[in-house]
Amino acid sequence: MKPVCLVIGAGAGIGGNVGKRFARGGYHAVLCRRSDEDGLRTLVESIEAEGGSASGVLLNAAEPDSIEDRIRAVETDIGPIEVLVFNLGAQIGDRALQDTSYKAFELGWRLATFALFRAASAICPLMEARGTGTILVTSATAAVRGNAGQHSHAAAMGGRRMLCQTLNAEFSSKGIHVAHVLIDGAVDAPDTLGKMLGPERFQQLRESRGQEHDGLMLPAKMAETYFHLAQQHRSAWTHEIDLRAFSDRPWWNH
Ligand SMILES: NC(=O)c1ccc[n+]([C@@H]2O[C@H](COP(=O)([O-])OP(=O)(O)OC[C@H]3O[C@@H](n4cnc5c(N)ncnc54)[C@H](OP(=O)(O)O)[C@@H]3O)[C@@H](O)[C@H]2O)c1
Repeated sequence: MKPVCLVIGAGAGIGGNVGKRFARGGYHAVLCRRSDEDGLRTLVESIEAEGGSASGVLLNAAEPDSIEDRIRAVETDIGPIEVLVFNLGAQIGDRALQDTSYKAFELGWRLATFALFRAASAICPLMEARGTGTILVTSATAAVRGNAGQHSHAAAMGGRRMLCQTLNAEFSSKGIHVAHVLIDGAVDAPDTLGKMLGPERFQQLRESRGQEHDGLMLPAKMAETYFHLAQQHRSAWTHEIDLRAFSDRPWWNH
């Protein structure tokens, strides 16, 4: 039986590419996203075309029990989840305080922080019983730096980072490796950044900073880091790592 890698938030950017990388590395990738069944099918087919193994399922992480039920179903129907990739974003764009409704603020927390807590509550007891498991949590600059208009996103991502540290404090010695992967810059991700900017601005960004300029992070390249994290020996685990394009200044320098 292949080890299982469950990706929560598998679009065409980081999530999908991390799933592909794990499938290439011998895992069965279970790919979950909220909408776009066609996108999921395309992703699964592209993995299968390479000789890998994957399945895709729609899941709305904001709905009660959605994550918990999916984790239970994967464990029962497919196999023990060795790697959980938690990749949900919670970016709503820059909004002044008065334009950030209670609802928008709370939704950021629900997706960035509480959904990770729910996933951890479901998977950690199972991984603990097995004495092994890896939880890779994608994060953002907002986890370490508040900024104008980022009330919801920064508060929620800061919570995500602290939750990762707290999970590590409880579960590292029990064999569970939790890594907080801080993405410090823009990713060539059509389903998230692409939709937020719209097709025209996204294309302009790709032409000015992406493509041969390598100033937009490439999800397929980022996926190598995720795969490596899951293969680390427990005597030398990374608990926090950041990724940014060579031409970007790090978050602490601007
Ligand atoms: N893109 C960037 O520039 C950037 C920068 C810094 C950090 N990040 C971090 O990177 C991660 C996302 O990676 P990515 O941008 O490359 O995107 P991606 O992996 O291409 O896609 C993420 C997927 O998450 C899914 N998702 C969102 N809300 C969901 C929900 N409620 N339930 C289930 N699925 C949901 C979306 O599915 P649907 O499309 O089907 O709704 C989306 O396709 C986030 O943690 C984000 O904070 C991204």
